Amino acid sequence: MLRLAIIGAGRIGQVHARTIYAHPGAELVTIVDPVPGAAAALAATFGAKSSEKVEDVYEDPTIDAVVICSPTSCHVDQIIASVAAGKAVLTEKPIDLSVARVDECLAAIRGQEHRVMVGFNRRFDPGVVELKGRLDAGEVGELRQVTIISRDPAAAPAQYMVNSGGIFKDMTIHDFDMARFLLGDIAEVSASGHAFIDDIRGIGDIDTCAVTLTAPSGATATILNSRVCAAGYDQRIEVFGPKGALETTNLRTTGVRSSSGSGTEVAGPYLPFFLERYAAAYTAELDHFITSIEAGTAPSPSVLDGRAALVIAEAAGTSLAGHAMVAVV
Ligand SMILES: NC(=O)c1ccc[n+]([C@@H]2O[C@H](COP(=O)([O-])OP(=O)(O)OC[C@H]3O[C@@H](n4cnc5c(N)ncnc54)[C@H](O)[C@@H]3O)[C@@H](O)[C@H]2O)c1
Repeated sequence: MLRLAIIGAGRIGQVHARTIYAHPGAELVTIVDPVPGAAAALAATFGAKSSEKVEDVYEDPTIDAVVICSPTSCHVDQIIASVAAGKAVLTEKPIDLSVARVDECLAAIRGQEHRVMVGFNRRFDPGVVELKGRLDAGEVGELRQVTIISRDPAAAPAQYMVNSGGIFKDMTIHDFDMARFLLGDIAEVSASGHAFIDDIRGIGDIDTCAVTLTAPSGATATILNSRVCAAGYDQRIEVFGPKGALETTNLRTTGVRSSSGSGTEVAGPYLPFFLERYAAAYTAELDHFITSIEAGTAPSPSVLDGRAALVIAEAAGTSLAGHAMVAVV
């Protein structure tokens, strides 16, 4: 039984609290959040302790592992302090908004990197797991094109957006990791995008983008993102090669398809957002983390995977600003 603490009781903290509570190999010991009452309200739901002081987690020798769900700017300090206190860590993405800061983190946790996992949950989605397995088994032949469509139903709260680091580091980072997961290392990035939404233009960010990543083999990954989508949470991936293609499609509240003379359609809307769409992925992610830590093996994705996705995000920002193809170094 792994005894876990959650740092940060916001949107994703609530997802992880539910997942830990439901896992037979995990015990949710405590939730901390500096906002008065935030951790207490969530912890009460799961019979866990709560605190407004993050130090309480580091100082509790009965806590084996920490799930970091605080704002991105807090992650590195909390990873370093947790590792120094002997805890294993599952940190939310991105590790930080700066590659230099991730390198400081790597230096500080040297020798213990194998006890830190980054929460790129989409790698654990059952559809992605099957697609990757069949891709690796050669079903489409040599991988030539990856297409990733990822659109949120609605933009996050303004207070979140202003500190998010922008679309590439906050949102597309999932897709950069997915592109690496499917395609391997990336050599070049070309990005374009626009702010159609006034509030997002107002904070100097964009809400809609198209990014093309090119691998050394010449294969490409094309990523399409939007911060809003009238149809709901739109999550699709296609891999294409000379022998065919494999696709993961959107999940719906119902899969019943109607067919008539006027057309065919699936009536149910897309699942609303990440909590519902990736519920199985968060469970599998936690399960992998617990199994790895208990076995003393390194969980994946690693801090180096988190760093690699951030390097691509920085290159995408440079590409957008300079209207140019940028090498990933
Ligand atoms: N993997 C995913 O699907 C996914 C989804 C959403 C968010 N995220 C990531 O999770 C992180 C949190 O995002 P969110 O949407 O839950 O944000 P949020 O604003 O909803 O929640 C953050 C929480 O952290 C608390 N907090 C603030 N400062 C803190 C500190 N110093 N120590 C501990 N807690 C602190 C806040 O009070 C708040 O309750 C971000 O890094 C984000 O990129 C990942």
